[in-house]
Amino acid sequence: MSSIEPEITGAESMVERPVPLGPWSIRAVREDDLVAVRELLGQVRLPEDGLEDQFGENYAVAESDGKVIGSAGVEVYGRYGLLRSVAVSPEWQGSRIGRSLILERLYWAKARGLVSMFALTTTPRYFERLGFQVVDRNSIPPGIRFSKEFTSVCPETAPVLVIAVNGPHVEKREEVRSRYGQIARDVEAGTRTKGGRKQKASCCGGSASVDVENVITANLYEESELGSIPDTAALASLGCGNPTALAELKEGEIVLDLGSGGGIDVLLSAKRVGSSGKAYGLDMTDDMLQLARRNQAEAGVENAEFLKGEIENIPLPDNSVDVVISNCVINLSTDKRKALAEAFRVLRPGGRFAVSDVVARSKIPDEIRRNAELWVGCIAGTLEEREYRTLLKGVGFDAIEVVPTRVYGGNDLFALAEAELDIDPAELDGKFMSAFVRATKPS
Ligand SMILES: C[S@@+](CC[C@H](N)C(=O)[O-])C[C@H]1O[C@@H](n2cnc3c(N)ncnc32)[C@H](O)[C@@H]1O
Repeated sequence: MSSIEPEITGAESMVERPVPLGPWSIRAVREDDLVAVRELLGQVRLPEDGLEDQFGENYAVAESDGKVIGSAGVEVYGRYGLLRSVAVSPEWQGSRIGRSLILERLYWAKARGLVSMFALTTTPRYFERLGFQVVDRNSIPPGIRFSKEFTSVCPETAPVLVIAVNGPHVEKREEVRSRYGQIARDVEAGTRTKGGRKQKASCCGGSASVDVENVITANLYEESELGSIPDTAALASLGCGNPTALAELKEGEIVLDLGSGGGIDVLLSAKRVGSSGKAYGLDMTDDMLQLARRNQAEAGVENAEFLKGEIENIPLPDNSVDVVISNCVINLSTDKRKALAEAFRVLRPGGRFAVSDVVARSKIPDEIRRNAELWVGCIAGTLEEREYRTLLKGVGFDAIEVVPTRVYGGNDLFALAEAELDIDPAELDGKFMSAFVRATKPS
């Protein structure tokens, strides 16, 4: 994927659980509803193809007096859903049951993190009233375009409509989760090698068949540091600095690493703060957490704990941490103000924010900002230094410093982008740096 797909606008804000408006209710399907739903589809002349394979938690029914009177289902294709089997028993039509079933399925899709919902229909006006918009068939994601519903069941002339159920931020977050999950699995499978070649490298990295150690991630740690942790922790190192070394950690301190990945900085911090201190790692990607916990066990580190969660919602109490570190993760956040505000909240008064990150040194061309590969690769989502300072100040920090540790040339960045960029690399020379960003929560 070379660029974030165009934002589909829609009634995202109206995606809420609907309230039943009559003597009927909506519920998830049970296995024994299959016969009733099939009968219902027959009554309203909707296709039954593939119903049995799809039937499960992605279906809901409307029921009155124990009888199924409506149904709606969603075929899931990656981050997109396709509505199907929206049917209401003839004697109940006009009771707003179909509408409620659709809204309920949109709500379900939103909770699952789907980005948008498509519908192929001969009654587009009905869907438009719910906030769907007609789209060109050519702009439909391939999974949906090649579905049975599209290729054989519905007439080729049937309009296609779409509605956004989650904003583009969810799409970016899922892209990040998927990329870093894959890296964790590669490390576990032994297919990611230090200094070797590998498909799909990482952050702070990006494109196919580049050296795992790219210009951003290479040579960040002392040999003595790497010697003290498992190889798989070093192999999964995807940072752009060495915040642990720069954070001046002291014995007994509580440290939190935002976006801890394979755990390298948590394990190094745990050693620095000693057994009277503790290091927490926080990451949203299950495979990374699994890898980090395995690395922790292998390293025999007891004063560390890996938590699952998002840095925009840190699962720790207020004022509970002495130092927040992070290595090349804030740039990946889709709500950086919230992430920084959360760091501020969990820090005790006088606590330190000590983060390595990629930072833009001036305005970045839109083409770079829109490049999905460069987003996952820690470039497109970077804050400009000025914005970083403003956000940190805005959430309450003071003593803010941004200290450059590496400045990149345009060619370095081109090596990370999978797609051709229509920009002269020289235009990007010196525009990005790795930096150590430091701030303090006032006492
Ligand atoms: C570039 S890697 C850095 C990993 C680690 N800090 C290091 O230096 O090796 C980014 C990591 O942050 C995690 N991540 C990205 N966005 C996140 C978010 N919003 N909340 C929690 N974790 C996130 C990813 O799952 C991934 O493990």
